[in-house]
Amino acid sequence: MTKIDVHPIVAHRGASGHAPENTAVAIAKAAELGASWVEFDCMMTRDGRVILNHDETLERTAGMEERVCDLDLADLLHLDVGTWFDPKFAGETMPTFRQTMRQLSDLRMGANTEIKPCKGKERETGEAVAKEIAAHWPSDIPPPVVSSFSTEALEAAMPHLPPEVEVAQLWGRIPGDWRERLEALGATAVHSSAFRLEEAAAREIGAAGFPLRCYTVNEKPLADKLFGWGVGSIFTDFPDLFLTP
Ligand code: G3P
Ligand code: MG
Repeated sequence: MTKIDVHPIVAHRGASGHAPENTAVAIAKAAELGASWVEFDCMMTRDGRVILNHDETLERTAGMEERVCDLDLADLLHLDVGTWFDPKFAGETMPTFRQTMRQLSDLRMGANTEIKPCKGKERETGEAVAKEIAAHWPSDIPPPVVSSFSTEALEAAMPHLPPEVEVAQLWGRIPGDWRERLEALGATAVHSSAFRLEEAAAREIGAAGFPLRCYTVNEKPLADKLFGWGVGSIFTDFPDLFLTP
């Protein structure tokens, strides 16, 4: 089973409580706050390139109705995805996955790459992200954890991923047949909502030897409870709540 030593505190979409999510400045901020691991979301453009973005459409972060997968990379690269968060981030743009991989290497950070496909683009997105990792993941940082809510995207990604990559299935609520589903896919870790996790499921997953990591934890008492249940890492928008730079 591929296992990666993920830090207990993972900056969610970068330090997204302090800077616009899924941008270079959010990742730099996470490092500045003492985080050594980040999570971010990867989406595919119409022309098959991979960029960092969470929502299917650009409405929330760029004020446009279009879906990311209906635009080419060139249409996306100049969009301001910083102002919505705070005008002081005006002009911040979406990084390509490749730029982010270089940034991770510069900062010596580990990362969870979440595959975030637009509806109907699950297989293509999974494949595109995996091929980028196989070709460009830096050798001077730990191999990535690749996760997705979409089992289809993970299935498409897996044949293209280097063997040292860890694959995690993301669930809101962990299903009763989690183990069968994990084994059918060949995934070796579980990522789940912190708020829908039950202690029995957490302990069962831990006893079976699978890493369990939870999103999105921005309060210390919740983190303490989860770590007490054997959760290995939390994804947080505020890594500074848990780390000292
Ligand atoms: O990967 C953990 C977490 O990011 C999953 O949910 O919606 O924030 O991407 P979301
Ligand atoms: Mg995510």
